[in-house]
Amino acid sequence: MTDYGKRFRLDGKVALVSGAARGIGAEIALALAQAGARVLVTDVADGGGRATVQAIRSAGGSADACVHDVTDEAQWAAAVALAQHRYGRLDILVNNAGIETAALLSQCTVEDFRRVLDVNVTGVFLGIKHAILAMAPPQGEGGVIVNLSSVAGLIGTTGHAAYHTSKGAVRLLTKAAAVECAQLGTGIRVNSVHPAIVATEMGTNFIQHFVDLGLAPDYATAEGAIKAAHPLGRFGEPADVASAVIYLAADATRWMTGAELVLDGGYTAA
Ligand SMILES: NC(=O)c1ccc[n+]([C@@H]2O[C@H](COP(=O)([O-])OP(=O)(O)OC[C@H]3O[C@@H](n4cnc5c(N)ncnc54)[C@H](O)[C@@H]3O)[C@@H](O)[C@H]2O)c1
Repeated sequence: MTDYGKRFRLDGKVALVSGAARGIGAEIALALAQAGARVLVTDVADGGGRATVQAIRSAGGSADACVHDVTDEAQWAAAVALAQHRYGRLDILVNNAGIETAALLSQCTVEDFRRVLDVNVTGVFLGIKHAILAMAPPQGEGGVIVNLSSVAGLIGTTGHAAYHTSKGAVRLLTKAAAVECAQLGTGIRVNSVHPAIVATEMGTNFIQHFVDLGLAPDYATAEGAIKAAHPLGRFGEPADVASAVIYLAADATRWMTGAELVLDGGYTAA
């Protein structure tokens, strides 16, 4: 008989979460550890995510921190090698690190546009590449990659074209990687998650940008209007996203690859 409880557990697995010093990434790292995984927490800031590691260890979990800029290929190779050296393997990669910028298209600088694509797209590409090198046989035994896209990868809004472009690219990079990994028999599944506004520093910045761009008179008005666009009537919490990542990382979804899981309080259904 199938043990369904076990299908949602990650005992014995090794995970790497990028951009996990704060926000959604920190919560994903905590959730993976609670589900039984050992977690390499990486970030360009906060010593690679020392506070997150402390929180995981305080809760009885196993984690280490690694300073890691996702735009740098040598740092990807080093981070994956550290996971393999410390824990002996890599089973789960969560490409979470991301940045946003706000500007009308006529005002957006090419530097800002390129920077968003560099972190949000090239960073995810490099993560997928180095995860495959570690997870595909004979080096590894397969694995799971979860990419943070966004509802911004499904629809457009005013003032965030670079971000939409990047998250749309993550959506299709996920599908291309999923098909290639499956057809080459690597045993690696690749899926994307698509949250609407989540209450983090980035979420707050998104709302403020509507004021900065002259699209709302003040923060409270912008917040009210954006919240009202979520039929469930609230923004997401990092835990709402982390729960979905556990689901995608676990054997519960072992027949799921190249899929996009939308977590948006009904935003794109309305
Ligand atoms: N907050 C939202 O409303 C929302 C909605 C949908 C998708 N997302 C996506 O979820 C992910 C996490 O978002 P968040 O809200 O927690 O953001 P956040 O800004 O609160 O945290 C992002 C983390 O990424 C790190 N980071 C930035 N550039 C990096 C780089 N070059 N290398 C390594 N780390 C880097 C930062 O230091 C930070 O710790 C992002 O990919 C974001 O686009 C967020």
